[in-house]
Amino acid sequence: MNSVIEVNSTTIKPVTPASYGHSPTPNDRHQASAASSDVASKTVEPSETVKTSSIAHPFVKWVGGKRGIIQALIDHLPAISPDHTPIDRYYEPFTGGGALFFALQQRGQIAHACLSDVNANLITAYRVIQSDPEALIAALTIHAKKHSETHYYKIRQQHTLTDPIAQAARLLYLNRTCYNGLYRVNRRGEFNVPMGRYKNPNIIQAENIRACHRVLQEVTIDHHPFAEVAPPDGDRCFLYFDPPYHPSDDGSFTGYSKLGFTAEDQTRLRDFALDLHQRGHYVMLSNSNAALIRELYAQAPFRVFEINAPRLVNCKSSRRQAVGEVLITTYPAGKLR
Ligand SMILES: C[S@@+](CC[C@H](N)C(=O)[O-])C[C@H]1O[C@@H](n2cnc3c(N)ncnc32)[C@H](O)[C@@H]1O
Repeated sequence: MNSVIEVNSTTIKPVTPASYGHSPTPNDRHQASAASSDVASKTVEPSETVKTSSIAHPFVKWVGGKRGIIQALIDHLPAISPDHTPIDRYYEPFTGGGALFFALQQRGQIAHACLSDVNANLITAYRVIQSDPEALIAALTIHAKKHSETHYYKIRQQHTLTDPIAQAARLLYLNRTCYNGLYRVNRRGEFNVPMGRYKNPNIIQAENIRACHRVLQEVTIDHHPFAEVAPPDGDRCFLYFDPPYHPSDDGSFTGYSKLGFTAEDQTRLRDFALDLHQRGHYVMLSNSNAALIRELYAQAPFRVFEINAPRLVNCKSSRRQAVGEVLITTYPAGKLR
């Protein structure tokens, strides 16, 4: 391995909210378009005061979320420019909660971003936050008022909602109240996580939704598999791939394989990353420190960095342990930031 680094907590420097464009006013009122069939036509007023100074962070808890290792990711970005100019074109094809995107966007380090994921509900939530945060906050306010075990299971079974605001509100409501913030679906693609035992779940989080709305204004948001990402040749783009991790060798880390990302998918991703490198782009990937992953990325141009992730992955608390992860880059990792 080329290097071993310690993972530190991150300090994010906010840039001025004004630079993100529209800031909603305290008088903004929106109709809840349809959090669920029985709340479709009620007008609600967001109960939280609008503050435009808050820092955007992932609006969902997500399996494999990278908030805990953000500093390690930032330390391994390419040294694109000695004067710290922003990454001109940033791609994150396995966006999930988008922890790296939000951290960099806050620092003003991305000029233009393309976020994508195969999870249709998640992408709908990004789009709704980008276009109509107040309607989402209104719908979540209704969910928060009605929250109970009965309401949770009633909303959980609404698998066929068509209204984007209702879909997004359902995703966020379930994400904030379900067991461990897990996203798990059955074979039919239906969310099936039981309710969590939170005394007072923070369901609305209006301030963060508004902050995310501001930073998402100029962002391209797509619903497609990673292989359909097409950065333009000629521009040196930066792509961060954070796929479902390959199961670790000791079997302690098998949760993601259920999402259907196979060893063949890992190989396809490696080939895709190589192709992007050969077309002049910068690629960074994260994955588990499994034998297959080390083997796939053993040759140049890939560089593999072990990181000590403070991530506890076994659902049985007695067997929880920190999991080995690696960062892989196609460039000499810069320490400029
Ligand atoms: C490890 S999570 C990403 C976590 C994210 N970096 C964060 O900070 O929250 C992996 C994501 O990849 C998505 N995914 C799985 N298979 C995919 C595929 N073939 N193409 C694109 N996205 C995929 C999942 O929906 C999930 O959101």
